[in-house]
Amino acid sequence: MEDYSVWAEEISEKIREKIAWVSEKNRDKIPYTTDENGDYDDRSDTSRTWNQDDGLNWWTNGFWSGIQWLLYQDTGEEKYAEIARVSERKLEKCFEAYFGLHHDVGFMFQPTAVADYKLTGNPDAKRIAMHAANLLAGRFNPAGNFIRAWNEVGEDDTRGWAIIDCMFNISLLYWASEESGDPRFRQIAMRHADTVLNSFLRPDGSVCHIVEFDPETGERLRSHGGQGYARGSSWTRGQGWALYGFANSYTHTGKKEYLDAAKRCAHYCMANLSESGIIPVDFRQPKEPAWEDSCGACVIAGGLLEVAGHVSETEKEMYVRGAVKILKAIAETRADWTKDCDAIVKNCSAAYHSTPHHTTMVYADYFFIEAICKLRGIGKLLW
Ligand code: GLY
Repeated sequence: MEDYSVWAEEISEKIREKIAWVSEKNRDKIPYTTDENGDYDDRSDTSRTWNQDDGLNWWTNGFWSGIQWLLYQDTGEEKYAEIARVSERKLEKCFEAYFGLHHDVGFMFQPTAVADYKLTGNPDAKRIAMHAANLLAGRFNPAGNFIRAWNEVGEDDTRGWAIIDCMFNISLLYWASEESGDPRFRQIAMRHADTVLNSFLRPDGSVCHIVEFDPETGERLRSHGGQGYARGSSWTRGQGWALYGFANSYTHTGKKEYLDAAKRCAHYCMANLSESGIIPVDFRQPKEPAWEDSCGACVIAGGLLEVAGHVSETEKEMYVRGAVKILKAIAETRADWTKDCDAIVKNCSAAYHSTPHHTTMVYADYFFIEAICKLRGIGKLLW
């Protein structure tokens, strides 16, 4: 197999250089994106709405901490653990608000409290993470065997909605069972993953973003296009959540169907990967406008590397080659290594139909750095 270690080490050096000053500059913030001057914003302002999910409860608020834990593992420098714990302490306040929290407690508390506990054994972090896991488990609907997405009722009633992103959130449940010895959390996670297997995954390896069930009977009613181009299309970040999420489910359970599902998603992504290695917002979007999503790209790369860790040497090469193609495209054409911008990864899009496109997003940086660490074989799986 081709040796990518020299390239990965060169990129890691650039990451260490950049994150060293970015972390110091933003140590008390929980950033999401950068402004026109390249400065990170701060989503930890508690004067923003408590009962909504765009303030302290914003779903990406765990990733800044996650970046610090990745650098802590890479460098061993204590300052990264200190900065990571600023987010952890702030996010604990979300439990008091309660109403803004939903399925994304996994994204919020896995790269903060679970990472802290896995890496340092901090008992406070375990308490926070178990609290979050219980909230996630409480969202399970036994009629349809799914974890409910979001909290809306009324016009946009989400009581029967499940979304592909949740394949990532359920890592929190696997961790809770592994840590407590109580199988309930893992059982819920596996029932949800089985529902995704049966109701989201299409024969070609692509997935739906949102599937709506009857919340009383559990009957599958319809799918929705969600953040992708349209119903029946293939939102690339959702492909990434499915691919990496099924791979994680296999890592935690050893259930072969999950690895097979991850491979189907992986093959679909690789078959649709363009020569440039640049990933669109949706694999089925029109040619123009050519909206990209570098974040989806980094999630897909991470998923390909996770699958590569579970297959034979002969198979492995194909997945690693696919991941490196994507990561090279990011590192060489979509990354800002200067001091002009706090973020590294450019050209991220939250959704096909929402503006702005081609911004920075903190979780793109997280998944990019994580994938480079995976390629070098360093660090524990935080999911
Ligand atoms: N989990 C929401 C997103 O990927 O945008």
